[in-house]
Parts: sequence; structure tokens; C-alpha cells
Amino acid sequence: MNSSKLLSQLKHGPLEFKNRVFMAPMTRSRAPQQVPTDLMVEYYAQRASAGLIFSEGSQVSSQGVGYVFTPGIHAQEQIKGWKKITSAVHQKGGLIFCQLWHVGRVSHPEFHNGNLPVAPSEILFKGQSYTLNGPKDVVIPRALTIDEIRATVEDFKNAALAAKEAGFDGVEIHGANGYLPAQFLEDGSNHRPDQYGGSIENRARFILEITDAAMSVFGAELVSVRLSPRNPYNGMSDSQPEETYLYLVNQLEKRKLGILHFMEPAQLPKDVKPLAPEVRKLFSGLLILNMGYNQEAAEAAISSGRADAVSFGTLFIANPDLPERFKNKAPLASPDGATMYGGDAKGYTDYPKALG
Ligand SMILES: Cc1cc2nc3c(=O)[nH]c(=O)nc-3n(C[C@H](O)[C@H](O)[C@H](O)COP(=O)(O)O)c2cc1C
Repeated sequence: MNSSKLLSQLKHGPLEFKNRVFMAPMTRSRAPQQVPTDLMVEYYAQRASAGLIFSEGSQVSSQGVGYVFTPGIHAQEQIKGWKKITSAVHQKGGLIFCQLWHVGRVSHPEFHNGNLPVAPSEILFKGQSYTLNGPKDVVIPRALTIDEIRATVEDFKNAALAAKEAGFDGVEIHGANGYLPAQFLEDGSNHRPDQYGGSIENRARFILEITDAAMSVFGAELVSVRLSPRNPYNGMSDSQPEETYLYLVNQLEKRKLGILHFMEPAQLPKDVKPLAPEVRKLFSGLLILNMGYNQEAAEAAISSGRADAVSFGTLFIANPDLPERFKNKAPLASPDGATMYGGDAKGYTDYPKALG
């Protein structure tokens, strides 16, 4: 008898997740024309035993791109490519959400015919963008005008419509890891003097507007928002992360958002207070935790009620059948760092299942 909570089903509105081992979104840079390929169909289908797959970040517009070979979700050809992926995952009994992505300042003029990437404010961070000609230092971005912010919200809405047309079961707003929504939210990257900057309420406006836009397409239940408070990646900082993020979670709760995908290291230093328990108190939808979880830690988080599901990133790269491995206590394979981003089938679709 298996009494694992991690491997148990989970009902959520019209969806039924067959287990709580979710696959975290992972950029693999294998879409040379920004269009999903047949190789990607195979990759996602191989991982359809996850309770839910989050697709890799998919740019909502050509302005939203900042890495080579990442797929978009804004053009007909891209919708056609994604359709093959969602069908293959569904055929294997899986579910898949599309992660909607705009990198903002984490880009380079090379992607924009020499024009500047955009951001809430003209603030440089120390980092690189991965272009066709290799990694390049990022530049000072151009601040979006109010009209452009409205147009970007519309881009997110159109991308959600495209995701629906492509057969996705829902969408996730990529509000984590220092990309455009996080750049608006945190005060280290947002010095705007208007209604999108200054107070926490103003800084949260953009991510709430794009979440509303996605919810207008899929309904609140089938939208996920991904957040990563206190994550310094991509030069991020906020002077009051607890206040900022708990305010946002409160607003998402008021909107009856379906899913919150919360990144916080499973192992925090002893002197750092975890925010996930606070989020759990405020948020009544599904709470997914992520970052550094193994089977044991995930099982403990779910059976103690701290999370409804856990998403796994790196473990899904080399273990396409991760839920089965957890069930059978099969050994776990390690991913090859050299083939994580870009390339072909090697290190992508050639990781075998444990039982062949
Ligand atoms: C190769 C790779 C690509 C990633 N791409 C994305 C992405 O597109 N969107 C995102 O939200 N997180 C991305 N992440 C972060 C993962 O979703 C996840 O948060 C991270 O790997 C920590 O989870 P883990 O400890 O289970 O690996 C990526 C991580 C890796 C290793």
C-alpha cells in the first residue's frame, strides 16, 4: 500500500492532477526560430506523468525576448507548434500550463534591431543576456511609457488567448526571477514617479493587471502566478520584501487566483524567516512550493499541509519519469550541465526511463 501524499491525486476545478509531483518551468533553448519543434513535442510527452507540467518561459511578444532560441506564444506558427505539444501531453494523460514571459531589462539591443530593451525604469543591473553572438553585458533599458505599459498588458492577454487556442490547460504569469513583472514589483528596479511606481500598491499594479488579463481568458482558477521573493537573481532587490509580497498575495487572494507557485529554498539559513507559511495563511488556492526539494522534503511539505504540490526543475531534466521513480524508489539520474541550454536531442530527450 502506498500512503504517499506526494503521489496522491489532487482535484482543482475542472482539472484532476494525477499526482502532486509538478514539473517546474524550464527554458531549454531548443526553438531556433522561436517556434516549438517536434523535438520539444517528444521532450514534453516524455514528462507527461507529472501531475502538471509548466512549459518553459514563452515570450508574450517579440519585445519580451532576452535569450536565444526560446519559444514565443504570440504568432500563428508558434500556436501551431505548441498545439502539437499540448496534444501529445494530453494523449499521454498529462496536463500542461504555458508560462507567459517578458524579460524586460534582461535583454539586449541585438534582439531588437539595435533598439533598447524596456523596463519600468532606466536602471542598469550587472548581468548578461544570452544572444546569438554569445553572452553580452546588458545595457541601460528604456522606461516604458504608460501607453506602452497598457500595450504590454494587452500582449499578455493576447498570449493567454494564444495559449488557449494552442490547447493549454491554463497559464502561469512568470512573476519570478527578475523579469518584467518582478522589475515593476521590487523597488530596486522601479523608480517610476507615476501610478506604476512608488508605493507597494503602485508597484504591484502591473503584475495584477496582467494577472487580471490572463484570468479574463482562462478564468481565475486556471491561472498560476509564480513569485520568488528575496531572490537576488538578475540584480533584484526590494527594501521590504515581506510587506511587498504579502500585499501582492493578499490582492491575488481577493481575485480568487487559482494557483500560487512560490519559490523559496527548501533549506533556508536558520536566521531567515520563511515567507511560505505566511503565504499559506493568506492564500486559499493551490500553493505549489519549489526550490531545492527532494522526494522526502516534498512529502513532508505536503503531508504537514504546508503545500498542496511541489514542483521539481532539475530533477525532471534527467528523470523524465520522476513520479514513477519516486513511487518505486528507483535511483535518480543527474543532469548534464553542458546540455541544459541549447543543442539537440543530447541531454534533452535521450535521458531514459528507469524501467525502459
Ligand atoms: C535549465 C533551467 C531553466 C529554467 N528556466 C526557467 C523558466 O523558464 N522559468 C522559470 O520560472 N524558472 C526557470 N527555472 C527555474 C526552475 O523552474 C526552478 O525554479 C529551479 O530549477 C529550482 O527548482 P529545483 O531545485 O527543483 O531545480 C529554470 C531552471 C533551470 C535549471
